[in-house]
Amino acid sequence: MADAVLRFEDREINLPVIEGSENEVGLDISRLAAETGLFTLDRGFGNTAESQSQVSFIDGAAGILRYRGYPIEQLAEHASFLEVAYLLLYGSLPTKSALASFEDSVTRHTLLREDMKKLFEAFPHEAHPMQILASATSALATYYPDALDPRNPEAVDLSMHRLLAKVPTMIAWLYKYRAHQPYMYPRNDLDYSANFLHMVFSIPAEPYTPDPVVAAALNVLLILHADHGQNCSATAVRLVGSGDANLFSSVSAGIHALSGPLHGGANQEVLDMLEEMAAGEGDVSSYIARAKDRNDPFRLMGFGHRIYKNFDPRARIIKQAATDVLAKLRIDDPLLDIAQELEATALSDDYFIERKLYPNVDFYSGIIYRALGFPTDMFTVLFALGRLPGWMAQWKELKEDPKTRIYRPQQVYSGETERAYQPPS
Ligand code: ACO
Repeated sequence: MADAVLRFEDREINLPVIEGSENEVGLDISRLAAETGLFTLDRGFGNTAESQSQVSFIDGAAGILRYRGYPIEQLAEHASFLEVAYLLLYGSLPTKSALASFEDSVTRHTLLREDMKKLFEAFPHEAHPMQILASATSALATYYPDALDPRNPEAVDLSMHRLLAKVPTMIAWLYKYRAHQPYMYPRNDLDYSANFLHMVFSIPAEPYTPDPVVAAALNVLLILHADHGQNCSATAVRLVGSGDANLFSSVSAGIHALSGPLHGGANQEVLDMLEEMAAGEGDVSSYIARAKDRNDPFRLMGFGHRIYKNFDPRARIIKQAATDVLAKLRIDDPLLDIAQELEATALSDDYFIERKLYPNVDFYSGIIYRALGFPTDMFTVLFALGRLPGWMAQWKELKEDPKTRIYRPQQVYSGETERAYQPPS
C-alpha cells in the first residue's frame, strides 16, 4: 500500500502504512516528531497502537476474539487453562509431552515461602483482596530474586512459571487470612482449578473434594479472561516492563490497573448493583434512567466497551455458562433474572442502541463466581488470575521485540508560560 501523506502548513511527511495479518491498517508515525516537530494528541489511546502484537486478535465490530489465531469459543470448550497459558506464552498449542512438562513445572512451584504468611498478616483483615494481591505479587521479587533479569530467557521462564503457580496460592491465602481460617497448602495431585478450589474452600478439619462442575466452570472463566489485546492493565504491564522492571513488578502494576471499576473492578460493581436492585433500592428502569442522565455520574456497570461495538463474545459464553452452572448446582439466584431483565431493557433502549453499548465480560461473570461460592470482593482477583498468562505473554513479547523502546508519551503543555519567582507576600 502507498504511504499516506500528512501536510501541515509548509511541512509534509510520508507516513508508511502498516498492515496487520487480519487486514488492519495503521499509519506509522514513528518519524513524525523527529522530521516535523509535530506529534499527535490521542486521549485514551483510542487511535494509537504502540506495538505490533501477535498474542490476541479482536474484531470489535464482528464480536470476534482469538488467542494466537484460535477462536475463544473453541478454547473455552476444549482446552484447559494451563494449555491456554502455554499457547499465549509460547505461541502454539502444546504437544502432550510439552503440556505435561509445563504442568509439572508449574505444579512444582505452587508453595509459597513460609515467611510470606507474615506479609498477608501485616494487612488489616478488611483490606481489599486486589490491594493485597498487588502487594504480594510485587513482594515476590524480594522472595525470589534469583530470576529477575528480564533479558535472560531462562530466568524469565522460571519467573513466569513461578507466577502462574504462586498467584493461586496467594489468592487462596489472602482469602483464608481475611476469613480467619487456617491456610491450606496446595495439593499437587489436583489440576490447576481443582487445587485452587481446595486451597480456598477446604479446611483442615474435614475432607474436601472439589466439585467437578465448579472446577470446570472455573477453568472456562479463567480461559475467557486470559488475554484481551492492549487493554488498560496489559498496557500498564507493558509500560512498567518497557523500563526494564522485572516481571513481578510489571504484573503487580497490571493488578493495580485492573482493580479500577472501569476495568476489572466492574465485575464486583455489577454484583453490588444487582444486589441493590434485589434489595428493592430501585427497579431496573430507574437504574437505566440514571445511566442515561448526563448529570448523574452513574454508569450501568458491565455495559459498554472501547473495542466491542457488538456483543462481547466472552459475555455470550459466560451468559450461557451462568445459566448452565446454576442449573447443574441447582441454584435459583434471583440476581440472574434481574441481570437478564436489565440486559433486555438496556438492549431495547435507544440510548444504548445508538452508543452500541452491550454487556461486557463482567456483566454475567459475578453471577457464576457467586454460585461457585466466592464473596463479591474476591471477583476481581479471580479476573487477575485469569489474565495472568496474557499479561506475561505481552510482557515477554515486549522484551523479545528488538524494536521496543521505553514508553514515554509526549504531552501538549498547556500550563503557565515563563514567569518570575515572587517571594511570599
Ligand atoms: N452506562 C451508561 N452510559 C455509558 C456506559 C455505561 N456503562 N458506557 C458508555 N456510556 C456512554 C458514555 O456516557 C458516552 O456517552 P456520550 O457519547 O453521550 O458522552 C458513550 O457511551 C461512549 O462512552 P465512553 O466513555 O466514551 O467509552 P469508552 O470507550 O471511553 O469507555 C468503558 C469504555 C470504560 C468500558 C465504559 O463503557 C464504561 O464505563 N462501562 C462501565 C464499566 C465497565 O463495565 N467496565 C468493564 C469494561 S470490560 C473490562 O475492562 C474487562
